Amino acid sequence: MATRIKLSRRSRDRAQAASNQHPRPAARPAGSGRQVIEFRGVSKLYQGDVGLDQATFSIERGEFVFLVGSTGSGKSTVMRLLIKELEPTSGVIRVAGHDLEQITRKRVPYFRRNVGVVFQDFKLLPNRTVYDNVAYALQVTGGTRKEIRAKVPDILRLTGLSTKLHNFPHQLSGGEQQRVSVARAFVNHPPLLLADEPTGNLDPETSIDIMRLLYRINRTGTTVVVATHDQAMVDKMRRRVLELSRGRIVRDEAAGLARRLRAPATKPPGLR
Ligand SMILES: Nc1ncnc2c1ncn2[C@@H]1O[C@H](COP(=O)(O)OP(=O)(O)OP(=O)(O)O)[C@@H](O)[C@H]1O
Ligand SMILES: [Mg+2]
Repeated sequence: MATRIKLSRRSRDRAQAASNQHPRPAARPAGSGRQVIEFRGVSKLYQGDVGLDQATFSIERGEFVFLVGSTGSGKSTVMRLLIKELEPTSGVIRVAGHDLEQITRKRVPYFRRNVGVVFQDFKLLPNRTVYDNVAYALQVTGGTRKEIRAKVPDILRLTGLSTKLHNFPHQLSGGEQQRVSVARAFVNHPPLLLADEPTGNLDPETSIDIMRLLYRINRTGTTVVVATHDQAMVDKMRRRVLELSRGRIVRDEAAGLARRLRAPATKPPGLR
């Protein structure tokens, strides 16, 4: 499914009105091909530290990719560069064909509407209900009341939270809180969803649950990139793995191919 990242608010709203609930097919931006993410020789130097060192890789539309590597290897740096929270020291980053360097500060909020982000520590608003936490994400990006009424119940159903609408974050388990943050990240149906250690604070069973949810989101056509330390999870999911070490890409393994040949399942085990 082709999904385009748009920078003009008016054109985005028009497209959303035409297709209210689901990611929609759209023309590809010139030059992007199938690639949603392209890093070309990207380095990020912090004062005294290497965040990323000449990283070159690309991720195609609809892929589910794990970003792995030991602590300090550069995973969060990649995520933060992708939402333009950081600027690279050198190299080129393109998201859906748009060179991030060309996106002015003023347009960054519009760009970010197209990238959902999930963090390890959920980052929910503590004094708002589940419903309001998700609705707020739409409000701040200019969603109308009608849009909110249509979209929030839908996304809460998808994430299995329909019975928790009126709960506050402290009345939820860790897994449920992470579901809310996934719901919030996906309520706009962005073409790209980034998750930085989304299961870092969760037990193994709950982690599987969150991965199932990300997998379901990926099957709607959204490209999903997950940074994780959880090797067991990565092995189970059998998806492409990009490994970083000291800011360098040291492995790019397509979907655990060897294991797949032995067990030709179309779905990862334990996943719907
Ligand atoms: N704001 C910063 N200022 C200085 N150095 C930084 C900053 N952010 C990250 N670094 C350094 O850049 C390197 C990469 O950090 P990054 O946070 O990307 O790693 P990571 O792979 O996400 O690690 P973790 O698994 O612990 O989350 C580390 O050496 C880190 O200390
Ligand atoms: Mg990190």
